[in-house]
Amino acid sequence: MSGTEEIVAALEAVLCGADRPVALHEPYFAGRERENLLNCIDSGYVSSVGRYVGEFEEKLCRFTGAKYAAAVVNGTAALHICLILAGVQPGDEVLVPALTFVATANAVCYCGAVPHFADSETESLGIDADKLDAHLKETAELRGGICCSKRSGRPIRALVAMHTFGHPVNLDPVMKVCGDYGLTLIEDAAESLGSYYRGVHTGRFGKLSALSFNGNKIVTTGGGGAILTDDEVLYRRAKHLTTTAKLAHPWAFVHDEVGYNYRMTNLSAALGCAQMEQVENFITLKRALAEEYRKAFSGVSGAQLFTEPSYAKSNYWLNAVILSEENAALRDKILEETNRRGIRTRPAWTLMSRLPMFRDCPRMDLSTAESLERRIINLPSSARLGEPFIRQEGKIR
Ligand SMILES: Cc1ncc(COP(=O)(O)O)c(C=O)c1O
Repeated sequence: MSGTEEIVAALEAVLCGADRPVALHEPYFAGRERENLLNCIDSGYVSSVGRYVGEFEEKLCRFTGAKYAAAVVNGTAALHICLILAGVQPGDEVLVPALTFVATANAVCYCGAVPHFADSETESLGIDADKLDAHLKETAELRGGICCSKRSGRPIRALVAMHTFGHPVNLDPVMKVCGDYGLTLIEDAAESLGSYYRGVHTGRFGKLSALSFNGNKIVTTGGGGAILTDDEVLYRRAKHLTTTAKLAHPWAFVHDEVGYNYRMTNLSAALGCAQMEQVENFITLKRALAEEYRKAFSGVSGAQLFTEPSYAKSNYWLNAVILSEENAALRDKILEETNRRGIRTRPAWTLMSRLPMFRDCPRMDLSTAESLERRIINLPSSARLGEPFIRQEGKIR
């Protein structure tokens, strides 16, 4: 068999029981979603008031261990507020991975700041702390305790660590770099609900962290996001800024700063509450599916399923097969053949550093991210696809 045929056969072996087309990631509604939504409609509170938002935030805190959670309209808005509260100012630079979804870099621009692109490493697909350290040693200096780029003269204020496809970044070395250069750590945990770094939930390491509940995420609220933090003051600021900075009052409308209409709706939160009741099950199913992919690809030469780093427990939000350098040229043929068969695979995101609006942004050497970009293929990863591989008692076959 050719390389392409081998890879397609491995995919077909795992997905043989699935209806076509097999989506890349679809939501799974098996709990109280309908009941909650009807309650919400019957109550008349579908928008910015209602009991579900608070309940959803409590469930997020309980599940992640975070002290505070503020539910918002989407993950991008969550990132925007995280950056504002981290003190990011117009004219600052913020370190973000080049290999990420566009929202990570967009949110930096919403603050009037400039994304500064960092390379990835191959164990986690996240920011390469050692390489970043070497880059900062050469190109940055501390001025009055603030890290500044020697090239642009701008302050480098913060670093956003993104947990790619749900796999936790190697956070200890990243936190060391942040400590050494006085950078505020923010986690883009949009993809990593249910993923743990050394036993602690992702999103617990940054000063602030962002989650997403878009339709393709581990749990969905239709569209939604949340800000996690352990800092009460930041949490109160997050709630204030995301609710138009309105001062609490029974009837008067007074706002004390320019705020944002970012609050999650009660309808979305109603859906989210039902989804959070099933999150453990979703992760069990997704890990079972990943294990089947791993086995299927173990016999394929020149392609490997990306598996969780040794220090992590991953939610396997989006499975990824990584082609060898020799097989990189096969990527588009594999994408074409699998999509022709109704298997919705896709390539990794185009690197941020290559998008037209970020072309002039600062960056370090991005050779690993560039290589990964050429070699990654994301595979269908809906929780439901894991069902055939789970026995009644919840064990992997
Ligand atoms: C890494 C990453 N960051 C941010 C976001 C933005 O989330 P949302 O689509 O909810 O705005 C997403 C997902 O969509 C994402 O994958």
